[in-house]
Amino acid sequence: MKNIADLRKEYTKGALEPRDMGADPLVEFRGWFQQALEAEVLEANAMIISTVNVENRPSSRVVLLKEITPEGIVFFTNYASRKGQEMSLNPCVSAVFYWAELERQVRVEGIVRRISKADSDAYFYSRPRISQAGAVVSNQSEVIEDRKTLDAQMEALMADESIKIERPEHWGGYEIVVDGIEFWQGRPGRVHDRARYDKMAGAWVKTRLSP
Ligand SMILES: Cc1cc2nc3c(=O)[nH]c(=O)nc-3n(C[C@H](O)[C@H](O)[C@H](O)COP(=O)(O)O)c2cc1C
Repeated sequence: MKNIADLRKEYTKGALEPRDMGADPLVEFRGWFQQALEAEVLEANAMIISTVNVENRPSSRVVLLKEITPEGIVFFTNYASRKGQEMSLNPCVSAVFYWAELERQVRVEGIVRRISKADSDAYFYSRPRISQAGAVVSNQSEVIEDRKTLDAQMEALMADESIKIERPEHWGGYEIVVDGIEFWQGRPGRVHDRARYDKMAGAWVKTRLSP
């Protein structure tokens, strides 16, 4: 195996001038996301979100971005999962996107809130039946013996297409209402560009950070 310490790559694909960026970082984010789609970044909507438990221990996992709103970003999960429980006690979260093909990173910080039941319904019922069934059979984050019971429950739910699969009450969306966001563009020699936005007294303040 190659020596891990020798793995390195120069970043040469772009540059970032915070002064040229707009006043609203969510508009900027939408533009960057569109560019990630155009660059065919693999699962551009995959983001790592971190939550913090009551002992102040953070934990991280990948979820999928499903919507960009004027105030934040939306993902869906099980409200009773480990992350769901952690967010109900501490709604402060961070999220990060890494788009290797563009040598870009976006870091997001904010406060989560549950989206409305109607909006969770709208997304749930737009999903393929197999994903609806998956949400029903999974008590996400709970310890289970093996996958036999899951498979049997899936089979039963998939068997009769005429039976509607209802959205479980404990499954739905969260919106991260963003109050801090950083756009990062890799540059040669690790002298990267970083544009940071912080919401202060209701207004966005933009700064350039040292790499
Ligand atoms: C590419 C990818 C996408 C994922 N998308 C989601 C998602 O949108 N929602 C979700 O609840 N879990 C998603 N997962 C699974 C989570 O990473 C995680 O395993 C699960 O949510 C349980 O996390 P928890 O026990 O910390 O609550 C995804 C995993 C990967 C690798």
